[in-house]
Amino acid sequence: MTADEKKKLAAYAALEYVEAGSVIGVGTGSTVNHFIDAIAEKMKGSVEAAVSSSEASSKRMKQHGIPVIDLNSAGELSIYVDGADESNHHLHLIKGGGGALTREKIVAAASKTFVCIADDTKLVDVLGEFPLPVEVIPMARSLVTRELVKLGGQPVWRENFVTDNGNIILDVHNLQIMDPLKLETQINQMAGVVTVGIFAHRPADILLLGGEDGVKAVKA
Ligand code: 5RP
Repeated sequence: MTADEKKKLAAYAALEYVEAGSVIGVGTGSTVNHFIDAIAEKMKGSVEAAVSSSEASSKRMKQHGIPVIDLNSAGELSIYVDGADESNHHLHLIKGGGGALTREKIVAAASKTFVCIADDTKLVDVLGEFPLPVEVIPMARSLVTRELVKLGGQPVWRENFVTDNGNIILDVHNLQIMDPLKLETQINQMAGVVTVGIFAHRPADILLLGGEDGVKAVKA
């Protein structure tokens, strides 16, 4: 079974958590693309609207005829469905491989339940093998790079990439994230950082992992 087939399994399993008539939060990435397609195939008309975490997901939902609304007119969302680059067993995540981490963190914060969907290779004991994305205001790129080096990381500028918010991404290699809560706070406090891709203060509530034997639900 390919990683994409596993992602698709997890994405379709997430439909169980979607209440008819609700406004849902929708993340970004290849796993979420399967979820958007699943909503269109199985639940179109019964989802009132979606709040999107990226231009890419908005475009895909609009193509399917799923109404996309602004978070400011939505209030609290019942559910947020998104993928991840890594999850530990506490459901602390690394996100931002697709560069949509800031809006993803906002929509996750506005949601009652965060359902994370992924293939089973994403579950790890210690976060950090996947380079940690950090969204940075462009003029602070060198400053933040120096600060991240002081933490023991090796930041690499994701060249030719601009986020939906007009900022840049630094991917930080060589981190072993033993205390995700502390590191999330530490990096978020650096001047010029918009968002760090550690989701520990607002972790996922449920992790649906697609694998050879079907979908496994993990709770913290
Ligand atoms: C985008 C993300 C994605 O959820 C993450 O990169 C996982 O992507 P994929 O579903 O393609 O494996 O955080 O910013």
